[in-house]
Amino acid sequence: MKKNSPKLIVANWKSNPATLAEAVLLAKKVEQGLSKLKKSEVVIAPPYSFLASLAEVLSKVKLGAQNAFWQDVGPYTGEISWHQLKNLGVKYVIIGHSERKIYLAETDEMINKKLKAVLKAGFESILCVGERARSTDNQIPVVVEEQLKKALAGVRKNLVQKLSVAYEPIWAISTMPGSRPDTPDNAFRASVFIRKVLAGLYGRKAAEEIKVIYGGSVNSKNIFAFLQEGKMEGALVGGASLDPEEFITIVKIASRC
Ligand code: PGA
Repeated sequence: MKKNSPKLIVANWKSNPATLAEAVLLAKKVEQGLSKLKKSEVVIAPPYSFLASLAEVLSKVKLGAQNAFWQDVGPYTGEISWHQLKNLGVKYVIIGHSERKIYLAETDEMINKKLKAVLKAGFESILCVGERARSTDNQIPVVVEEQLKKALAGVRKNLVQKLSVAYEPIWAISTMPGSRPDTPDNAFRASVFIRKVLAGLYGRKAAEEIKVIYGGSVNSKNIFAFLQEGKMEGALVGGASLDPEEFITIVKIASRC
């Protein structure tokens, strides 16, 4: 981890809220609530349709996208390209979220193309990895290693400076049936495991510079433990990021860690 660098807190709004007016109001509340905060790296990743309006509302909070297509322009119906996102002022892009794999059949190959494109384009890029079922033996499943290696295939070392990895065990995501948050202890083990894989690919020094953050039912009650005991370098927050008070509290706690 970079010494003294602030924790990265990313709000993943998914397909919420329903209207632009609600989105702008929510963004304004978060921006105002965090205006006095000195040490923070906060991102809101709203649905695409709200990006342009949120770009006008946000300044301290950075704009993120939940996905990006790998081509710049062209005949790709329904896709939003990294180039268009860049022109909208997007700074962070989430790649490989499990919901895209589950509901949209996003493959490792697609994730690899997207990750390469956004890293080359200079975005802060957040790669999501995580297993489907909770393991019973305290081991981080080998699928996490496979996801990392496939996503990063052909990605050169000079590009990973802007990479962060979000460990998001799918079973811990709040909308999954029977979900519950991971333990800080297991998240820590996952971060050690992820960094070992990254060190194998890019060397120890480069791997240490890559932020490993946690996602899955993060809220204001558990964020401190994930950052402090779990030594995570930030969080990807879904459901709790839609409640401005809750999200502001999460960021404030993180800013003290
Ligand atoms: P959650 O979502 O915080 O609602 O569990 C996290 C995510 O899916 O990114």
